[in-house]
Amino acid sequence: MALSEIVIVGAGQAGLQTAASLRQFGYEGRIRLVGEEKGLPYQRPPLSKAFLKADSDPESLALRNRDFFEKQKIELLDGERVASIDRQAGAVELASGGRLDYDRLVLATGARNRALPVPGGDHPDLLELRSLDHALAVRDRLGSAGSIAIVGGGYIGLEIAATARGRGLDVTVVEAMDRLMPRTASPALSAHVEGVHRGHGVGLRLGEGVARIATDGEGRIAGVETAAGGLIAAELVLVGIGILPNDALAAAAGLETDNGIVVDSCLRTADPSIFALGDCAAFPAPDFGGGALPGRIRLESVQNAVDQAKCVARNILAEPAPYSEVPWFWSDQFDMKIQIAGLTAGSDRQIARLDEEKGRLTVYCFRDGHLAGVETVSNPGDHMACRRLMAERLSPQPAEVEAAGFSLKTWLQAMRGRAGGG
Ligand code: FAD
Ligand code: NAI
Repeated sequence: MALSEIVIVGAGQAGLQTAASLRQFGYEGRIRLVGEEKGLPYQRPPLSKAFLKADSDPESLALRNRDFFEKQKIELLDGERVASIDRQAGAVELASGGRLDYDRLVLATGARNRALPVPGGDHPDLLELRSLDHALAVRDRLGSAGSIAIVGGGYIGLEIAATARGRGLDVTVVEAMDRLMPRTASPALSAHVEGVHRGHGVGLRLGEGVARIATDGEGRIAGVETAAGGLIAAELVLVGIGILPNDALAAAAGLETDNGIVVDSCLRTADPSIFALGDCAAFPAPDFGGGALPGRIRLESVQNAVDQAKCVARNILAEPAPYSEVPWFWSDQFDMKIQIAGLTAGSDRQIARLDEEKGRLTVYCFRDGHLAGVETVSNPGDHMACRRLMAERLSPQPAEVEAAGFSLKTWLQAMRGRAGGG
């Protein structure tokens, strides 16, 4: 039966790209893209970077302009929340009362910020960052404050720390683990990032928990009280302690969830008419030649959202094929361009190369003797080489990487030359 009704829940990076790719791959039926946030779908990465520095226009963040939606006949239902899924009838119900029938349903519901589970963690003046509205509030407050305490030394915390220092604020980051970016970075990268932040005058409190949000006699935020009993006095407090996938809608419809909406390697749920992708989806990790990681993973990045969207669109329209793109991530902090290719978390051996003069770092991360990924700072050549070789399921040996003068780019060229020459 020809498909004529596709409903996409969530008008973020993944949802919009699914709609665009469906059109690109020739689907001519109806597409309805339902998004809880008002307005055009927008990019989140600038929210913790350039957007906080200058008075840029929120409209400049739009992923596509209004014309795109008209021309592509993509019906954007913005400011509408999907409240439930009626799988038996093949329909979703909107919180506002409407009902949308579907042949295929795509869940791209993203994630929400974790709340700080301590007294004062619900103070109305605490800052957080996930949405454009949050970013407008943060930007406004950074402009009129002299100090900020940031809870969480992950991506959000460190990108905002760099921006806030650039704007002249006193900045202290409180991270519960004993190193920065523990979720996504190797110890060598964490140490390098720590040195750069300290060098710019960011106060770092590693391995410290937060006991409460401190307030003054009038209930205004006064800083953060650490578990050890110290007070970090600050006019602003921002919490960036990770995200939780928005999987309750799927769970209420009887779909399996486990730190995200469970999908197979083709990004399908157990219901053949429902797909899930992006920040909300838990999927089997692809095998890049060193054996697949056990269990399921959930990736939180633009690349993952965009590439999974292309995969879902193809799998809706043609014979389903597994998702197998090499993951990559980036972060801009001070003058560091941090890039990560592959899945380096949980690697069992790291070989780090630092060019102190140029501020360049490359960390080769191995799992069971196979390259699991490469982390770089201001070294885009090695980043790109890693993406290419992982896509080709190639890996140098740790001993080769340890040899003096090793270059990933040269190694890749040599491997290709060998393959080309038979
Ligand atoms: P989202 O972009 O979160 O979109 C999901 C949408 O679904 C939301 O708009 C939500 O309101 C909507 N929704 C949820 N439930 C419903 C419902 N029931 N009905 C209707 N709508 C619903 N990644 C990088 O790779 N590089 C970066 O530099 C980077 N910087 C970032 C900076 C910030 C400040 C943030 C917050 C994230 C950043 N990320 C970055 C992560 C990246 O933005 C996300 O991984 C990506 O946006 C995920 O896309 P998504 O579509 O899965 O989810
Ligand atoms: P994160 O998971 O990267 O970092 C959260 C940090 O908070 C962790 O280091 C964790 O150990 C710490 N933490 C947790 N509980 C704590 C507590 N009680 N006290 C102190 N520290 C605590 O998540 P983050 O930074 O909040 O980012 C949210 C989302 O936004 C993620 O999906 C992230 O990938 C995305 N993002 C990505 C960016 C990028 O790729 N460049 C930039 C900004 C955001």
